[in-house]
Amino acid sequence: MFKNFWYAVEFSTDLKVGEPKKVKILGQQLVLYRKNSDKSVVAMSDLCVHRGAALSDGSVKGDCIVCPYHGWEFQPDGVVSRIPAHPDKGIPRKARIDSYPVVEKYMFIWVYMGDLPEEERPPIPDWSAIDDTENFRAVSGSFLWKSNYERILENGVDVAHTPFVHGGVFGNPEKPEVPEFVVEESEWHCKISIELNPPRSKGLWGVINPNKQDLANRPPVPVSTTWWLPNMILLEIGTPMGAMKIFDVNIPIDEDTTLVKFVALRSFFKGKWADRDALRRVFKVLYEDQGIVDAVRPELLPFDLSSELHVKSDYNAVLYRRRRQQLLEMGWGVEDNTIVGEGPARVEARVIPSPVRREVPELASAWNFKEVRSREILAGRGEAPVRQERRLVMDDPEKPGTDAKADDSAAKPDANKAGATAPATAKDKEVTA
Ligand code: FES
Ligand SMILES: [Fe+2]
Repeated sequence: MFKNFWYAVEFSTDLKVGEPKKVKILGQQLVLYRKNSDKSVVAMSDLCVHRGAALSDGSVKGDCIVCPYHGWEFQPDGVVSRIPAHPDKGIPRKARIDSYPVVEKYMFIWVYMGDLPEEERPPIPDWSAIDDTENFRAVSGSFLWKSNYERILENGVDVAHTPFVHGGVFGNPEKPEVPEFVVEESEWHCKISIELNPPRSKGLWGVINPNKQDLANRPPVPVSTTWWLPNMILLEIGTPMGAMKIFDVNIPIDEDTTLVKFVALRSFFKGKWADRDALRRVFKVLYEDQGIVDAVRPELLPFDLSSELHVKSDYNAVLYRRRRQQLLEMGWGVEDNTIVGEGPARVEARVIPSPVRREVPELASAWNFKEVRSREILAGRGEAPVRQERRLVMDDPEKPGTDAKADDSAAKPDANKAGATAPATAKDKEVTA
């Protein structure tokens, strides 16, 4: 799990004024609430600095949240402004908790779980299609998995599994070959575009689908899958009826619990009457994936690329694993089970550091809760994360010294290609033979 990213943690419409809400992410608990003054959202550590009570069980007073245990009042910036037992005494310097930056965008509440200054934060991807209500009809939902979010993300962008796991929905088991695909990638994302063979349309789609030829003669369907670090996916399908776009965030509650939240857009059947059918199709796919992914072992993605075997159609997954390795080396990985999750009862609570810790170094001694430990002990630990200037690309098969194996040496960035962003065909980027 990684700090320093924007995470969509809840749908905007599911946070009401006057109703604080607990959400869990990265092994930590947050309280979300809306200020009374302008209805904007506050996201704070859900851990009262006095005795560890859950602020999410408290109440909103003006723009503050009031702890349910002894009534301490916390301002939106996480600083205590009132201690009712001692109204005449000063407020201790340590009476503060972490408050995280928030934006509301694309139907979601996004929280910045890290301490980097604004200009160094990885961007929120452009998901503006979600706001395009003229051309698309949206349905949304949530789905809880007992699996690691990275396993789920890899499954979501994997084009080779569809004929086997979703045969009949959008994979055709009679035509499982993965043809050449086009790759577009940047420091934070990877998009694969491909033409897949559709199965026979069923239900509502079967009645209206204009392509009723036999399977062998059905035109292929353009499909693209995109991941953005660390946990976001977009699946785009050009069905014969119109476009489908499924945006999803795989929220890491802890290392083996993931809350998926999705928005599924369609440019056809835009009436409310088709919403149920659209939702049913998404959940059918999620249940099919869950059956496979929950049984995958080891539960977590291996750190060593050579622990699993990769073939050409795993291109985007291999790139994900390499980028993730770089993030770990940058010190962005966080240890599991700091507050939530299975395991023995804890005597210590650690939290993801918020930006003010770095912005105001004079407060270094004023934080009662320590920062979460980094996932890996590294030489640079404790120092400012090193910005990644070079972009990782896959092996060039024509380059001497790189062969078919995706081993550790191949995981090193190729400086020759730094900065390249032009789409390239998969033919030039084969992972293994
Ligand atoms: S535990 Fe929150 S005020 Fe005492
Ligand atoms: Fe799937």
